[in-house]
Amino acid sequence: MKKINNGSLTINHVNEQVKLYGWVQKKRDLGGVCFIDLRDRSGIVQLVAREGECYQIASTLKSESVLMVTGVVCERESKNKNISTGDIEVELTHIEVLNSSSDLPFEISDDTTALEDTRLKYRYLDIRRNCIKNNLVVRHKIMMAARKFLDREEFIEVETPVLCKSTPEGARDYLVPSRVNKGRFYALPQSPQLFKQLLMVGGMERYFQIAKCFRDEDLRSDRQPEFTQIDLEMSFVNEEDVMNLTERLLKVIFKEVKGIDISLPLRRMKYDEAIKLYGSDKPDLRFDMPIYDIGCVFDNTEFGVFQKVLSEGGIINCLVAKGVASQYSRKKLDQLTEYVKKYKASGLAYLKIADVVSGSIAKVVSEEEVASLKDVLSLEDNDLVLIVADKNYNIVKTALGALRCKLGKDLNLIKKDDYQLLWVVEFPSFEWSEEEGRYLACHHPFTAPLDSDIDKLITDKKHCYSKAYDIVINGYEAGGGSIRIHDEAVQEKMFEALELSADDVCEKFGFFVEALKYGTPPHGGLALGLDRLTMLLTDTDNIRDVIAFPKTTSASCLMSECPNVVSSEQLEELAISVNE
Ligand code: AMO
Repeated sequence: MKKINNGSLTINHVNEQVKLYGWVQKKRDLGGVCFIDLRDRSGIVQLVAREGECYQIASTLKSESVLMVTGVVCERESKNKNISTGDIEVELTHIEVLNSSSDLPFEISDDTTALEDTRLKYRYLDIRRNCIKNNLVVRHKIMMAARKFLDREEFIEVETPVLCKSTPEGARDYLVPSRVNKGRFYALPQSPQLFKQLLMVGGMERYFQIAKCFRDEDLRSDRQPEFTQIDLEMSFVNEEDVMNLTERLLKVIFKEVKGIDISLPLRRMKYDEAIKLYGSDKPDLRFDMPIYDIGCVFDNTEFGVFQKVLSEGGIINCLVAKGVASQYSRKKLDQLTEYVKKYKASGLAYLKIADVVSGSIAKVVSEEEVASLKDVLSLEDNDLVLIVADKNYNIVKTALGALRCKLGKDLNLIKKDDYQLLWVVEFPSFEWSEEEGRYLACHHPFTAPLDSDIDKLITDKKHCYSKAYDIVINGYEAGGGSIRIHDEAVQEKMFEALELSADDVCEKFGFFVEALKYGTPPHGGLALGLDRLTMLLTDTDNIRDVIAFPKTTSASCLMSECPNVVSSEQLEELAISVNE
């Protein structure tokens, strides 16, 4: 008798003899008859053990014991519409306990109340729960869809090394000591960036890899120290070619995994526009609520704070929350003020629109200014206007961008199962680092500047824009890439712009710069964050839910207890001493 998947049994199997394997999810002993919910990866089926040996064994079963059973499929008297096998049950003829289970540290159910730390310690039990198991299945489907699509598109899957040279430009590297070359270290790859470019130099033309990447950075709910990219690179392409290919890949993934048709081409928005309108380079377009510049309303204001901001060359911007002013008490507005302060805004001014306008600045702005504001913003009664003013453009945009996202959630403006994808393009080449007192590469140092901006690499870094693009889905950066510099002279200019000395360049990237000399084709690519994509398609905002064995926010594994100390012999062999 062939094994059948529990979840695949239907009314069409009635009267068939079946052999099933699985775990005891639940048991109800009614005395003389015992019902068991038997779970395997495909689902749950109800077993019935009546009298005799089957009943005796069934009545002593512990949760999560592993069974092999045979029986006959019967139609159920009282059907369960909540499960796919709810029309039938299996009358047992034989039951064999393959293994029993100790008492469980938590209940294996989707609505378990167990703390995440407990679930992570016993992750193998957590994976038995539908929600985690289904996430891993979705992850698998995404990988398979990507592999098949990229194979059809003539991409070749190539593995690149995991023991690499440390070239820190971005996050910190994870280091691995070499035993053979004492005092020397490998680094785990932050991404296969240099290798995939070298594969283009090597004439592979179209490469992809489902690549493990490692970054020692501060962790958040959408970041892991060890994560996976669907990484690709193409020769003889421009931005449009890479974006077009990626869009088609995403279309296939959305269709195969979710049955959703996304319409192409996807919307494109320049980075500057995204910051101006949404205060973020990854705007969530599932709801509107753009940021408005209302500086012109206050050109001649008597209100000192706004006057000062404008005289210092700053900006006054606002959000309009439509029709909700009456829901916002003073206390709630104080909380919003505290919220924007986390983003360095000095405060939040607000107006509640009504016949008599009220709010924190109602008494200090003139009637004409209020009238002009109503006109410019097409305000209606019960609208709430939330204003941030500062001499620093980025502070205003970032604070209002974050507030916008908070309001989107708080006011339930986000529709379920809505996916809003867009490309954010033309990123600046550089961002200023206060910490390092120099410009750093916004994407990475191999990203080509716009053709019109090559000279700005040296003369005007602040206004130098690049051929970089990010794919943004529902406010997440799901992937990013760029057209690369393939010209050695431009690459040198880029290093110069990053204030890397010739020695630095030679030491860190010498092998790479050397390669650019030997007929490097124009090329570009992108990497999708597999974990983030899976999060989006499984509707979780916790990246740990889509990784089989994730790390905590302090980068440790609660199950295997890594990282951990190693023996003094191991350290000695590596010539390493620990100063703690
Ligand atoms: P980037 O650094 O933008 O680009 O990474 C690409 C995508 O990987 C995902 N990602 C992460 N996911 C989980 N945890 C992390 N710590 C993490 N860091 C990044 C994001 C991101 O968009 N080599 C370039 C790609 C290229 O230019 O081709 C790169 O790595 O979804």
